Amino acid sequence: MVAPQKFTEFIEANADRFIDRLGEAIAIPSISGDASRRGDVVKMAHWLEAQLNKYGVKTEKVPLGTQQLEGKTLDLPPAILGRIGDDPKKKTILIYGHFDVQPANKSDGWDTEPFTMHYDKASGKIMGRGSTDDKGPILGWLNVLDAHSTLGLDLPVNLRFCFEGMEESGSEGLDDLIASEAAKKDGWFAGVDAVCISDNYWLNTRTPCLTYGLRGIAYYQIIISGPGSDLHSGIYGGAVYEPMTALIALMGKLVTQDGHILIPGVYDGIATADANELKKYEELDYSIDDLEGAAGGKIANSSERITVLMGRMRNPSLSLHGIEGAFSGVGCKTVIPAHVAGKFSLRLVPPQTPDDITKKVIAYVESEFAKLNTRLNMKVEYMHGGKPWVADIEHWNFEAAKKATEAVYLQTPNYTREGGSIPVTLPFADNLGVNVLLLPMGRADDGAHSTNEKLDVSNFINGSKLLGTYLYEVAEITQTA
Ligand code: BES
Ligand code: MN
Ligand code: MN
Repeated sequence: MVAPQKFTEFIEANADRFIDRLGEAIAIPSISGDASRRGDVVKMAHWLEAQLNKYGVKTEKVPLGTQQLEGKTLDLPPAILGRIGDDPKKKTILIYGHFDVQPANKSDGWDTEPFTMHYDKASGKIMGRGSTDDKGPILGWLNVLDAHSTLGLDLPVNLRFCFEGMEESGSEGLDDLIASEAAKKDGWFAGVDAVCISDNYWLNTRTPCLTYGLRGIAYYQIIISGPGSDLHSGIYGGAVYEPMTALIALMGKLVTQDGHILIPGVYDGIATADANELKKYEELDYSIDDLEGAAGGKIANSSERITVLMGRMRNPSLSLHGIEGAFSGVGCKTVIPAHVAGKFSLRLVPPQTPDDITKKVIAYVESEFAKLNTRLNMKVEYMHGGKPWVADIEHWNFEAAKKATEAVYLQTPNYTREGGSIPVTLPFADNLGVNVLLLPMGRADDGAHSTNEKLDVSNFINGSKLLGTYLYEVAEITQTA
């Protein structure tokens, strides 16, 4: 069943209004990782709930408890659960998305204000924090609801929604909510047949994709202390053990230049790719130029296309992110920082789990610290994490998405595993016992988390058609199945 022409025409005809609405969403700086912006994350939740209610979606804002952030106890932003449609003859699809964003400041190197949408008609780029991750896709679902409600069209499936405001900070609180709702006979997720998440990107800038795997994540900090306060390096340098020196030594022992992780046992149990799997990578429309183009530099760590692809899709990785407490301003401050915290994370693949990896990380960092033989204090802390996820692409959920992609883009999608993480993907699959699909809106070069994050207007509009068309294909396929 192709989506009714009325639907796709409506999406086209209302593009300007949809872009304005995306501008409204971008203007709310809903940064989950910044305590001073917590009110904006909550404001974003209210805004989204009001939009859903306009189209007849019944909703509830669910409190998720509190968290410790920047030394304060903060209320977590509420999750929004919603439902529309109760026809027992129809399939029920659960939609997930996140309305929080990464931090952004113009001074990071943005060409325009990150929280003021900048739509450049000539290039078709909608710039702003959250445009592609994940406000554009969430608004894609609103556009689908808007079309059906305004045109008086029945939705082809029953819909359930789960939108959260903590994804960029590890989805605190949501696992428990998913588990408890899934266990309730009449809960918000009762009767869900499959899950669809639009929070990922094409592998390149020309071929749509369906994503069937995500890496997990385990995030850590190494805290080193000793001095009672910051010290003058002229007075104390040469006479004391320095926290930064120890931290740099430890961080330098985690991973090699070409990405090999040095923590003993981290690679345990990871299967090597068989011929079948290698063929899947061979078939992808993806080149090293695609990666380097999107990254904005000639920095691929291998000249082998398949090696690079596997490096980002199916092998674990370890990245160093930053050092809290270190001098990082302009000029030449001659300080010995008293207290530094080095942040790093691993991306995980099956069968790695945050629990198992954490034991190995702590044992290794502690033994390496002991070898440094200083009189400083060291603590390694696990901050947050999520397990990796891989789905069955033979399921009707993927088949429907493939048909929808072909109908909207006239192209067969790439099937990708992604290097990024969405911590709740596996909990959805496990607790609900259903197939989960990742159906992207944006492209590889959108710059999620980066400066000048953008969404192409064609991806926003075609992506909205895609999400709606997917629902019709679900209805069609499951009727004949
Ligand atoms: N949308 C991304 C996840 C993603 C990244 C999917 C790349 C496909 C490709 C999501 O918003 C994200 O950034 N997740 C964080 C999770 C973390 C903070 C627990 C990530 O991957 O760093
Ligand atoms: Mn996202
Ligand atoms: Mn993100």
